[in-house]
Amino acid sequence: MTRVAIIGAGPCGLSMLRSFEHAEKKGEKIPEIVCFEKQEDWGGLWNYSWRTGSDQYGDPVPNSMYRYLWSNGPKECLEFADYSFDEHFGKPIPSFPPREVLYDYIIGRVSKGNLKSKIKFNTRVINTIFKNEKFEISYQDKVNNKILKDYFDYVVVSTGHFSVPFIPEYKGMKSFPGRIMHSHDFRDAEEFRDKNVIVLGSSYSAEDVALQCNKYGAKSVTIGYRHNAMGFKWPEGMKEVHYLDRLEGKKAIFKDGTKQEADVVILCTGYLHHFPFLEESLQLKTGNRLYPPKLYKGIVWQDNQKLLYLGMQDQFHTFNMFDCQAWYARDIIMNKIKLPNNNEIEKDINKWVAIEEKLENPDQMIDFQTEYTKELHEMSDYPKIDFELIRKHFKEWEHHKVEDISTYRNKSFSSPVTGSVAPIHHTPWATAMDDSSKTFLDK
Ligand SMILES: Cc1cc2nc3c(=O)[nH]c(=O)nc-3n(C[C@H](O)[C@H](O)[C@H](O)COP(=O)(O)OP(=O)(O)OC[C@H]3O[C@@H](n4cnc5c(N)ncnc54)[C@H](O)[C@@H]3O)c2cc1C
Ligand SMILES: NC(=O)c1ccc[n+]([C@@H]2O[C@H](COP(=O)([O-])OP(=O)(O)OC[C@H]3O[C@@H](n4cnc5c(N)ncnc54)[C@H](OP(=O)(O)O)[C@@H]3O)[C@@H](O)[C@H]2O)c1
Repeated sequence: MTRVAIIGAGPCGLSMLRSFEHAEKKGEKIPEIVCFEKQEDWGGLWNYSWRTGSDQYGDPVPNSMYRYLWSNGPKECLEFADYSFDEHFGKPIPSFPPREVLYDYIIGRVSKGNLKSKIKFNTRVINTIFKNEKFEISYQDKVNNKILKDYFDYVVVSTGHFSVPFIPEYKGMKSFPGRIMHSHDFRDAEEFRDKNVIVLGSSYSAEDVALQCNKYGAKSVTIGYRHNAMGFKWPEGMKEVHYLDRLEGKKAIFKDGTKQEADVVILCTGYLHHFPFLEESLQLKTGNRLYPPKLYKGIVWQDNQKLLYLGMQDQFHTFNMFDCQAWYARDIIMNKIKLPNNNEIEKDINKWVAIEEKLENPDQMIDFQTEYTKELHEMSDYPKIDFELIRKHFKEWEHHKVEDISTYRNKSFSSPVTGSVAPIHHTPWATAMDDSSKTFLDK
């Protein structure tokens, strides 16, 4: 019998498990599946942890989410086609839920069947080699500190790529008397109340961590971008300046001459695609981009087509794109989709990469990833979902952010699955200090 290893039980790993469950329910014979998850529970980044650094077994903590994190895109854009928000919550809910609510939704879909029994928790894959037409996986049972081996025909890598921080160094860091940290270790903005906070970066973490610090009472927040400013109309107490030049004592000195008193520097400088648990010839080497090279259809490892990667793209689309990828990967494994010859594979990858390299603005990037996801969607039996509506929502959302970065989370969108329109949340995001499910879902 074909044996499949899934590494990671975050949203991508769970999409993979769900795709097999879907086929099984239709009466198809599915392969034997083993999912390895190094944490003690499922949900990946959405499974919040207070821990930073290492866990109780000495293993690096993968979690990068923090308290008071709310969805930064409309929930309608990530909705599962086979499990709507209305079905899970029994009523329409607002468009930008906090983490706990989304976690509940992700887990709700997979909790009903028998999927948990396919996952080995507290189990870290430490090495994967391909020999004699099989993958040999070595893994650590973390609780008993035992190293074991198993053999598989296919491997699905769904370990995410927002867990291993990229940490640059700036002049003056060694003698800075305050705190220096990466957004990976950021857990609670309350810690920075009355502090002068420097945030470095110009992407989603920089934007959200800076806004959180401002919302929870930082004295000042100064964002230092490197290439392109985010350029939003920042609320009072925040500013965006060009690139940190150096730290001198407690002063942050920027390239544009700005000098700012600093208590803490938060590096929102992104993450590394890091796969130390794969032999080198199997490792995807890429930055955070919309079409990493060497992946056919963004999934199939060009040099060994029995190795499949999920969710390795920079992400506008998330959960339903992961589903489309998983359904496609499943059909390759189950021989329902035949891969073309190597020339065709090379040509197809080059085509997508060439288009991606010419993209200039968010609208074009949204179009690109929507086209990619739609193409995958058409190739499997993943249920009906309106990706044209999702495309439209993403563009509207981008424009809402430009209008006012403090209010975009108060807007409402319609579901691409059920068509229902989200109610407006009872409290605007800027004054909603309690992010618990109970408070969010109240009323
Ligand atoms: C701070 C932050 C906020 C975000 N907010 C949003 C948001 O609002 N909306 C949105 O749609 N997306 C958001 N994202 C994007 C996020 O990447 C996806 O939503 C999603 O979590 C990706 O799923 P994944 O399964 O690929 O990876 P992950 O969620 O990272 O899950 C990977 C899993 O693999 C496991 N694993 C890793 N290595 C091993 C190993 N060697 N052996 C065994 N198991 C292993 C990990 O423990 C983890 O459980 C956010 C990301 C970050 C960093
Ligand atoms: N729900 C939420 O509110 C929320 C919050 C945070 C994050 N997220 C998600 O988390 C994921 C990761 O986002 P991310 O922002 O951490 O990573 P990212 O999107 O990969 O961005 C990395 C950033 O680091 C900057 N950078 C890299 N090296 C630098 C250096 N030496 N000095 C200064 N800046 C440097 C890059 O700037 P250049 O452009 O100059 O290279 C870029 O702005 C995304 O999917 C995002 O949606 C969501």
